[in-house]
Amino acid sequence: MTQVSLVLRAPSANRVYAQAAGALARAEAHWVLGAHLGRSAALRERTVGGMDALEVSLGADGASPEDDPEQLGRLLGSLSSTLGVLDVVEEPAADPEGPLLRPRALPGILHHPADLETILRYPGKTNEQFTALLISLAAALSTRRAGLFDGTLTLLDPLCGRGTTLNRALRLGLSPIGAEIDRKDVEAYRAFLGTWLKDHRYKHTLDSTRLTVRGEQLGTRLEVELAPDKQSFRAGGGQRLTVLGCDTTRIGALLPAASVDALVADLPYGVQHGSRAGGTWQRSPLEVLREAAPGWRRLLRDGAGVALAVNRRTLDHEQASAVLAESGLRVLSADGAFRHRVDQSIDRDVLLAVPADHPRVEQLSALAADQENQTP
Ligand SMILES: C[S@@+](CC[C@H](N)C(=O)[O-])C[C@H]1O[C@@H](n2cnc3c(N)ncnc32)[C@H](O)[C@@H]1O
Repeated sequence: MTQVSLVLRAPSANRVYAQAAGALARAEAHWVLGAHLGRSAALRERTVGGMDALEVSLGADGASPEDDPEQLGRLLGSLSSTLGVLDVVEEPAADPEGPLLRPRALPGILHHPADLETILRYPGKTNEQFTALLISLAAALSTRRAGLFDGTLTLLDPLCGRGTTLNRALRLGLSPIGAEIDRKDVEAYRAFLGTWLKDHRYKHTLDSTRLTVRGEQLGTRLEVELAPDKQSFRAGGGQRLTVLGCDTTRIGALLPAASVDALVADLPYGVQHGSRAGGTWQRSPLEVLREAAPGWRRLLRDGAGVALAVNRRTLDHEQASAVLAESGLRVLSADGAFRHRVDQSIDRDVLLAVPADHPRVEQLSALAADQENQTP
């Protein structure tokens, strides 16, 4: 039997690139469901009762997700634009009233008040919902993807700015790691987080120290431990957060090798923000990638997943794929697979990659071909 669900899209989804919201939701669902369930779902955009929805059909070929309805609910609920999910109970042919629907109870996957993600506003901030999409994609590609739901997935944003990815990861119950070269960003994030933790009366420790390696001063290291209350903090139930205030090209030697499950980054667009590589200020995101990728690869487990947001105007898919391949990373997603226009100077896409030694590399590559064959 086929299980058909309608995933309702949050109305505020992707204000900036509203036109592309439906296609992006479909692309995310394709990869996330495909990677978690091991096969492609049939997806199509649909309007029901005036609401935008993504129709997800699973199970027609026998292997039914109904075996584990909780897993399906968790996955659908984890998609970045999900407002709610309605299961199709009955779909009478040619019925103008539309399908008979039953609301699906979704397990909550987010912790901590939502303002952890929304209070901080600044030019260059990555949209929170788009950040959530990058995390769900990178996590799905990891062989340790179940860790997204039990707090054990290790997530790294090696270009973390003022912490949009880190805050989302904290709300998912993870203990993330970030790196950022701009001292003002690191300081602003430290100040924000300290105030937020105090205002919300969280039990926490927050230590900022110098980051020195063999006498060389590289920057700063911020270590935070936090829990909503004393009891869980004392019981060891706290989450950790690490922010390295240094050049991302150095982090390969600063963190344990093969310790990261999911790497998420919004690469410098080469428009508003300069990027530092090779000791001089450069504007080319390709140079940052070239210098940083070997270190990033060293930190990734073989079964890890990578999701990189890129500006197609300043970073060509082919060149980026070649640079990543030199470091042992294989780009899976096709050029334009997540393409959407953010503004005049940013034509954004997402590169999905895994280490070339990833145990599921062939199976995951097949999802790219399936995506190309899908009609809207
Ligand atoms: C597009 S922004 C990411 C914004 C971030 N996601 C946020 O919402 O705050 C790219 C970031 O990469 C940082 N960056 C550029 N080159 C870097 C380098 N070599 N090492 C570390 N960070 C770098 C920039 O300072 C900028 O904060």
